[in-house]
Formats: sequence, structure tokens, C-alpha cells
Amino acid sequence: MEEDYLICYCNEVSKSTIVNAIKKKGLKTVEEVGHETGAGQVCGQCQPDIQKLLDEINLAGTS
Ligand code: FES
Repeated sequence: MEEDYLICYCNEVSKSTIVNAIKKKGLKTVEEVGHETGAGQVCGQCQPDIQKLLDEINLAGTS
């Protein structure tokens, strides 16, 4: 299993939390991830990282 780490420092949301939310709920946007997990809702600095996770998961499944 991949190493877990914090993506969003403001709300202390880890990568695994975000990945699980994306997979379980089929999230497609940074905004949806924010609503589900709280990540990206404060300073916004982690939003590119959230987008990367979204791309990895959603693009991998659709090609
Ligand atoms: S690090 Fe995620 S909102 Fe600030």
C-alpha cells in the first residue's frame, strides 16, 4: 500500500481520506472533495494536489 500523508494541512485531511471519498462517492471536482472531506476549504493551497488525485483516479478508470 502507498504511504499515507497529509494533503490538506489546514483541515488535516490525509491522502487516504481523499482517495476513499473520491472512490466511494464518485467525486469529480475539487469542490465536491471539499464538501465531503473539508480539504481545500481554507487556504486553497492543497487544491492542485486534490485535482491531481482526482485525475489519477478518474482518468485511470475511464480510458
Ligand atoms: S492546506 Fe488545504 S485548505 Fe489549506
